[in-house]
Amino acid sequence: MDVEQGHGVSELFKAQCHLYKHIYYFIESMSLKCALQLGIPDVIQKNNRPITLQQLVSALNIPESKADFLQRLMRILEHTGFFDTVKIHDNQEGVEEGYVLTPSSKLLLKDSPTSLSPAVLAMLDPVLMNPWFSLGEWIQGKERTPFETYHGMSFGEYEKRNLKFINNLNEGMASDSKLVSLVVKEHKEIFESVNSLVDVGGGTGTLARSLADAYPHLKCTVLDLPQVVANLPESENLKFAGGDMFKSIPSTDAIIIKSVLLNWSDEDCIKILKRCREAIPCKDNGGKVVLVEMVINDQKDEQELTKTRLFFDMGMMLIGNGRGRNEIEWKKLFLEAGFSHYKITAVSGLNSIIELYP
Ligand SMILES: C[S@@+](CC[C@H](N)C(=O)[O-])C[C@H]1O[C@@H](n2cnc3c(N)ncnc32)[C@H](O)[C@@H]1O
Repeated sequence: MDVEQGHGVSELFKAQCHLYKHIYYFIESMSLKCALQLGIPDVIQKNNRPITLQQLVSALNIPESKADFLQRLMRILEHTGFFDTVKIHDNQEGVEEGYVLTPSSKLLLKDSPTSLSPAVLAMLDPVLMNPWFSLGEWIQGKERTPFETYHGMSFGEYEKRNLKFINNLNEGMASDSKLVSLVVKEHKEIFESVNSLVDVGGGTGTLARSLADAYPHLKCTVLDLPQVVANLPESENLKFAGGDMFKSIPSTDAIIIKSVLLNWSDEDCIKILKRCREAIPCKDNGGKVVLVEMVINDQKDEQELTKTRLFFDMGMMLIGNGRGRNEIEWKKLFLEAGFSHYKITAVSGLNSIIELYP
């Protein structure tokens, strides 16, 4: 770039803008969290019509002196796609506008069946945010994860000592499962042909409960760590089993695993998949494993989809040995675990459904 000779000036300032944008990207996450903590999406929803800044100020009980700051917070959130403004009316005093929800902020409504607000609060918890400041120190040092560099203990150890943190994280995962189960249960061909299903690492059973309700003939069992599944309400066709997926998985026609393998190294995934294979019948008798996991495909997918999956990959790097995988990387695991073939169905959203056959 030859700035002195008048060349490359526009590139230089484009690069400057690009750089500053990335310096400040965290403001988008923090503004989102703030909107959620203030309950702005619920207030707009409750208003039933576009809400003016003044109405928002009084509904949120914000001091009048802070109205201008709220307007600026709303402006950045509008810019990032969380709110929109529409014209309410035009009179002699000018145009009056009001804020409305967008599809993204509808996902933040607390009482919605598709609410992701617990996931936002769990993932933007300072416990998970602070270790990002240790990324450089970690990569040059000996600790296994940036989480360990920052907190002085592994993620697993931290979880054991902080019940509130793990509960919030489980609630966040459950909210994601509620949303994803809407899509998964539509794939009737997967569930109608089997009589029993084990959800491995199924957490508090959100996905399994939704499948058990949708398919009453299906006997569902959630396998998770004993402390996660203790005292959870069961039903006629939904049971919980405390155990260790690395040791043994109850015998079943089919297995479902959602957002679990992302958390583990290739070596551990192969161990889990081998236990899965041992638990199901051969293919001719209907045995299969269904994964609901992300498949990175940067050649084919939109940039936003790939970028979000890469963020998840980095998130895994922060806390453990997990990683995001492309199809070639997944295939290697499936073959090493002894599966003969697989089928990937790209469903809308971040996850794909991957069926594995012995
Ligand atoms: C990221 S969460 C996914 C939960 C659930 N599948 C979902 O999508 O909401 C991973 C789950 O694996 C469980 N888990 C971790 N180690 C396990 C083990 N050794 N055996 C069984 N479950 C385990 C965790 O307790 C947690 O519920």
